[in-house]
Amino acid sequence: MSDKLHPVPDEWKSRAHVDRAKYEADYKRSIDDPEGYWGEVGKRLDWIKPYTKVKNTSFAPGNISIKWFEDGSLNVAANCIDRHLETRGDQTAIIWEGDDPKDSKHITYRELHENVCRLANVLKDRGVKKGDRVTLYLPMIPEAAYSMLACARIGAIHSIVFGGFSPDSLANRIEGCESRVVITADEGLRGGKKVPLKKNTDDAIARVGGEVDTVIVVTRTGGDVPMTDGRDVRYEDAVAAASADCPPEEMNAEDPLFILFTSGSTGKPKGVLHTTGGYLVYASLTHELIFDYHDGDIYWCTADVGWVTGHSYIVYGPLANGATTLMFEGVPNYPSISRFWDVVDKHKVNIFYTAPTAIRSLMGAGEEPVKRTSRQSLRLLGSVGEPINPEAWEWYFNVVGERRCPIVDTWWQTETGGILITPLPGAIDLKPGSATLPFFGVQPQLVDAEGNVIEGAADGNLCIVDSWPGQMRTVYGDHKRFEETYFSTYKNKYFTGDGCRRDEDGYYWITGRVDDVINVSGHRMGTAEVESSLVAHEKVAEAAVVGYPHDLKGQGIYAYVTLNAGVEGTDELKKELVAWVRKDIGPIASPDLIQFAPGLPKTRSGKIMRRILRKIAEDDFGALGDTSTLADPAVVDDLIDHRQNRK
Ligand code: WTA
Repeated sequence: MSDKLHPVPDEWKSRAHVDRAKYEADYKRSIDDPEGYWGEVGKRLDWIKPYTKVKNTSFAPGNISIKWFEDGSLNVAANCIDRHLETRGDQTAIIWEGDDPKDSKHITYRELHENVCRLANVLKDRGVKKGDRVTLYLPMIPEAAYSMLACARIGAIHSIVFGGFSPDSLANRIEGCESRVVITADEGLRGGKKVPLKKNTDDAIARVGGEVDTVIVVTRTGGDVPMTDGRDVRYEDAVAAASADCPPEEMNAEDPLFILFTSGSTGKPKGVLHTTGGYLVYASLTHELIFDYHDGDIYWCTADVGWVTGHSYIVYGPLANGATTLMFEGVPNYPSISRFWDVVDKHKVNIFYTAPTAIRSLMGAGEEPVKRTSRQSLRLLGSVGEPINPEAWEWYFNVVGERRCPIVDTWWQTETGGILITPLPGAIDLKPGSATLPFFGVQPQLVDAEGNVIEGAADGNLCIVDSWPGQMRTVYGDHKRFEETYFSTYKNKYFTGDGCRRDEDGYYWITGRVDDVINVSGHRMGTAEVESSLVAHEKVAEAAVVGYPHDLKGQGIYAYVTLNAGVEGTDELKKELVAWVRKDIGPIASPDLIQFAPGLPKTRSGKIMRRILRKIAEDDFGALGDTSTLADPAVVDDLIDHRQNRK
C-alpha cells in the first residue's frame, strides 16, 4: 500500500465548505455533544413538526434501539422536491442519460413534482397506504426516481431489487417484505442489450403465489410483453389519468422509508431498514460536504438505484440539497470505452462518483480513450464499493482528473445509510488507497479477535462505537437478527464485518471483509447464497465458496464443488453450474472458477475450514498453517494439485 501524501490544494482549502480547522472543530463537537451538533444539522430539512429530542440510541446487549429526532415529523418527498419549487422550480433536478447516447433528457424540479404526485395517486388508487411495501424492479430511468419518491410521498416503504437479479431472487425479496405491488418496466436496456424485466417479474410472481395484485409497467423499449388483466397496469396510461395533486403524508422521523435487501455471511439476504428523518439528514449532509456540492454543480454518481449508493447519492441526498443529479442507464464501455468521459463532456459534469472496478476496467484500455475527451468540467472524483488499489487511484487521479481533482475514497455500507469514513476535499490530505478519516459523529474503533480495543497504528476489525443518524434501524421483521448480526460479536458496538488498518497518522485503510461476504465488482455476495444455489443442483453433493483476488472485479468467486458419487467432473458440467447459479441468483453471482473436489477440508466435528480453502484459491498454499486438526489432511494435497488459480 502506498503512503504517498497528496496535500489539500490551496484552491480547495479556501473554496470547500470545510477546511482543516473546521473539520477538527466540528468533529470534536459532533463527538462531545452529539445532541447539539445533530440538533443543529437537522434543521437543514423542513420539518412539519420540529423535533425536540435529537438522539436516543442504545447498543446495549438485549436493548439495541436507535432513534433520532424521534418526536419530529416530515416528508422525504416534500424535502426532496416541494421545498425547492419556489426557488428552483425550473432548475434541472435530474439529467437522464440513456443507454443510447442519442437518448437524454432534463427533468426540472417542477416536472419531477408533477410526475411524483401523479404516480403517488396511482399507488393510492391501487390501495397502497402508509406502511405498505412496494417492490421496484426497474432500469435506470427517471421513473425509478419517481417511484421511490412517490412511495415516500404517501408513506409507503419501497424495496428496490437490482434489475440484474433473477426471478427467484426477486421472488424472495417480494416475499421477504410481503409487498402486493411491483413497479417494473417492459424491458431494460444496458449496453444495447435488452433485459426482460416484465417477464422476470411474471416468473417471480408465479413463484410467490397470489399476493401481488398490482404490477405497474413502465414502457421503456416498447417490447411486446403480456399483460395480466386486472393486475397489470400501463404506467403511462395510469399517470395520465391520475391527478397531479397529492399532498405529502406526515411521517414520524422514525417511520420506515425503505428496505434494501443485502447479502450477509449467513442465510438469505436481509432486509436492511432505513427510516425517515435521520437517514435524510445524514444523506443530505454527507452529500453536500463530502462532494463539496455547490449550487449549480452537475453531479453524477454512476451507481444503480438497486444498490444503496443509488438511494443515498443519486436520489435522496442530492435532491434533498436541490442539486442536479445525473442518472445513467448504460454501461462504461458502450457504445465505446470513452462513454463515461463523453457523458461528462456532454453534460459538463463537475463531480463524478464511481467504483474501483469501473476504474480498473477502463484503465485496462489505456489512456487514449480518456485523453480524447476534454473533462475540463471535472472538479472532484469519488470512489466507493471496495478498496481502491493505489495503482487505480493514481490512474484516476493523473489520467482522468489530470491531477486537478481530489479523490474522495468513501467507505460505507448499506447498513450505514451514508458515508462514514472519507476525506473531506478541502480539509484532509489524501493517501491513495486510504479512506482517511471519520465523518462527523462517527467513532471508528479497531478490535482484535477477542474484542480487545486496539489503539494507535494497528490492524484490526472495524467497529463503530456510537450511533449516527443514517444508521439502519433493524432487519425488517427480525430485530433479533439485527442484534445478532451486528452487535453480538463485540458487545456495545456496531461491527462492520470489515478488516481495517490504522496508520501513524490515524488514517483508516479498509482491507476487506473478514466474514463470509465477498465483494465482486463492488457488489456484495454472501458465500452461503452461492453455496446453497450450487447444492440445489442435482449433481452436486457439497459446495464451499470463497473469494480470491481478481484483477478487475476486486474479488472473484471461487467454488469448490463435490459431486455426487458417479458423476464425472467435466468442463461442460462446470459451464452448466455457472449457468445454473447465474439463472438462480443473477449474473453477479456467477462463479469465476470452479474446482471439483473429491473432499473438502473439515475439522473432526465436520466444520469446513475456509481459511485453507481461501489460501488455496489465492494460490498461496505455502502458509496453510496448522492442518493437523483436519479429519483427513490428505484432501488438502489433492486440492492444491488441482487448484484453478495458478499465477
Ligand atoms: C466495501 C456499498 C473499501 C466494504 C456502499 C463494505 C469499501 C462493503 C468501500 C459494503 C471503500 C465500500 N473502501 N471498502 N471506499 N466502500 N466498501 O453494502 O467491504 O454494498 O463493508 O455498500 O463494501 O457494501 P454495500
